[in-house]
Amino acid sequence: MDNSSTGPSAVVARIGIVSVSDRAARGEYEDRGGPAVKAYLTEVLTSPWEADARVIPDEEELIQATLVELVDTVGCCLVIATGGTGPAPRDVTPEATAAVLEKELAGFGEAMRAVSRPHVPTAILSRQTAGVRGSALIITLPGSPKAVAECLDAVFAAVPDCVDLIGGPRLETDPDRVEAYRPH
Ligand code: MTE
Repeated sequence: MDNSSTGPSAVVARIGIVSVSDRAARGEYEDRGGPAVKAYLTEVLTSPWEADARVIPDEEELIQATLVELVDTVGCCLVIATGGTGPAPRDVTPEATAAVLEKELAGFGEAMRAVSRPHVPTAILSRQTAGVRGSALIITLPGSPKAVAECLDAVFAAVPDCVDLIGGPRLETDPDRVEAYRPH
């Protein structure tokens, strides 16, 4: 029997993409962060996946509820949020994320800021972070579309192993783009 369609790599990974921006949510400008995340994943992932994308305002409770829904109800193994990581009063994505994480993975933020600093001195203003809730990895990125690929490139090699370790589906990457490192 050909069981390739029932093997772990055949599982369709659900990936949440959350654009956090008051102005994009009001339709004052087009969301560009979310589509940049989607374009990145389309380029890098070779295993089957589907996106659940949302655009929401910078409201702490709504960000929390959206992350919880995407993980606990939709069953996403990976949720990538973009925007709201800076120091302005309405930037509350890190607080909302911390409130729903079970474990913080501080290395993600450290790596992303380190990679971003040569690009923009203001990279140190971003409080981007990541962590685990249930069987999902949540990663927060700055809102700038340029930042999305710069930051994901800094961490994505570790993402498939992390998703394996927390019980998610096997994510495969295009090694010409990102070589997934799987020590386990
Ligand atoms: N990181 C990268 N790689 N590229 C960028 O353009 N912009 C910075 C920073 N990190 C940036 C970046 C700026 S200007 C800010 S204010 C912070 O991310 C926070 O952005 P956010 O509030 O849109 O999340």
